Amino acid sequence: MPAHKLDSATFQPFETDFGIERELLLQGIRLKYGYDFTNYTESSMNRQVEAVLKKTNFKTPLELLDRVLKQRTFFDQILPQLLISTSEMFRDGAFFRLLRNQVIPVLKTFPTFTIWSAGCGTGEEVYSLAILLEEEGLLDRATLFATDVNPKSLRSAKDGIFPADQMKVNTRNYVEAGGLTALNRYYSSDYGLIKMNKELMRNTVFSEHNLVTDHVFAEAQLILCRNVLIYFNRALQDRALSILAGSLARGGFLGLGSHESVRYSPFASRFEVVDEKWRLFRGN
Ligand SMILES: C[S@@+](CC[C@H](N)C(=O)[O-])C[C@H]1O[C@@H](n2cnc3c(N)ncnc32)[C@H](O)[C@@H]1O
Repeated sequence: MPAHKLDSATFQPFETDFGIERELLLQGIRLKYGYDFTNYTESSMNRQVEAVLKKTNFKTPLELLDRVLKQRTFFDQILPQLLISTSEMFRDGAFFRLLRNQVIPVLKTFPTFTIWSAGCGTGEEVYSLAILLEEEGLLDRATLFATDVNPKSLRSAKDGIFPADQMKVNTRNYVEAGGLTALNRYYSSDYGLIKMNKELMRNTVFSEHNLVTDHVFAEAQLILCRNVLIYFNRALQDRALSILAGSLARGGFLGLGSHESVRYSPFASRFEVVDEKWRLFRGN
């Protein structure tokens, strides 16, 4: 056996050439642009790379890699497709009702407080938080940090412009979340688009933050990191949770997506469960 050959006891071959090429593509992206998808789940990366191939008419990940390495603008175009950014306002209405009933009364006891939306995507989550705070008379006591790894999503979030056809589901969620008025009071409509009232973002700071490579962000009384960990393998989930746990103020709340949990992480003992179904935790 040549000296450089991998030990057959530990060597795990990729099952398909697609798997090998996908890995080469992701390593190329990491080496050239610093975005590290190594610890995203294999199934989600397979799906996303396949979707990019379909959209760009390239046949294999290797062909894609060649273009990615040669053209930054092409990479900028495909990055949002590798990062799933689907979202809704008041996504899981019952979760936001829980925030209104369980978290808002605690926030009301502070003269000022900080909220961090990590992996805020195109901004639906942070507009929902701002509306909730406005309705509870708390928006002017709050500083909101909205972060994501995808600069394009952050630009959309700042603009606050969304397709009007998404408002049906957003309005349904808002009602389910216990909204106090009508969602359409917070936006204006024009030519099939809606524009959110800019005043809602008066205390929001948008910023790039990568849960794979960056560190503790800001001490916050409430952190939402919803539908992000689901794309990470266990090691990366633990890394992200260490950042979230490290950023949470004592007694602060952490809201995850309905398929995500702190339970199997090394940080489980640092949280108590406020609501199991809607994955709301409180730091102890
Ligand atoms: C499905 S969206 C979720 C948006 C919103 N939190 C929600 O629940 O509707 C997932 C978001 O996670 C972001 N994301 C993926 N990897 C990330 C990372 N390493 N650091 C920060 N954000 C990341 C994506 O760019 C995307 O905006």
